[in-house]
Amino acid sequence: MKKILVFASGNGSNFEAIVKYFSSGAVIIELLCDKKDAYVFKRAKKLGIKSYFVKFEDTYDFLKDKKYNLFVLAGYMRILPECVLKLGTFVNIHPSLLPKFKGKNAIERAFESREEITGVTIHYVNSEVDCGEIIVQETCKISDDMEMLKRRIHSIEHKIYPKVIEGLLE
Ligand code: GRF
Repeated sequence: MKKILVFASGNGSNFEAIVKYFSSGAVIIELLCDKKDAYVFKRAKKLGIKSYFVKFEDTYDFLKDKKYNLFVLAGYMRILPECVLKLGTFVNIHPSLLPKFKGKNAIERAFESREEITGVTIHYVNSEVDCGEIIVQETCKISDDMEMLKRRIHSIEHKIYPKVIEGLLE
């Protein structure tokens, strides 16, 4: 059976969407989080998902003897070093049409840019922030209301990320 490890640091809505998508049990999902009090731990507990608190600097030691088919970054707010990235395939989701609006507050910056379109990007991870090869992008119109835009972006994320993961595991 395929096994994935989701990396998250905070809220975990993408983590939850992924877990629910694979609720038939076809894929084993575990969670790694670098923040002890992150809300994503509550979600993991409620969803019955095994979770690990791993300090950023301990990531390599934690992973080096474990086997996962895919590492899925979903709101993990760290840049992983080469030695960790060499341990497998890492993917990430970012709330903009990369290469536009790399880094933090991408939705807000897109909203303020006066552009008409923004979106979501799923990409492979390398050691530069939001720079790895793009796997898929989905666009979304920038609404007049920031909260509405955030909701749109997150609902696209929750819809496309699990499907891309499923495709990569095939
Ligand atoms: C998402 O917008 C994702 O694109 C970005 O971080 C956010 C994480 O949200 N990388 P959540 O923790 O999954 O709710």
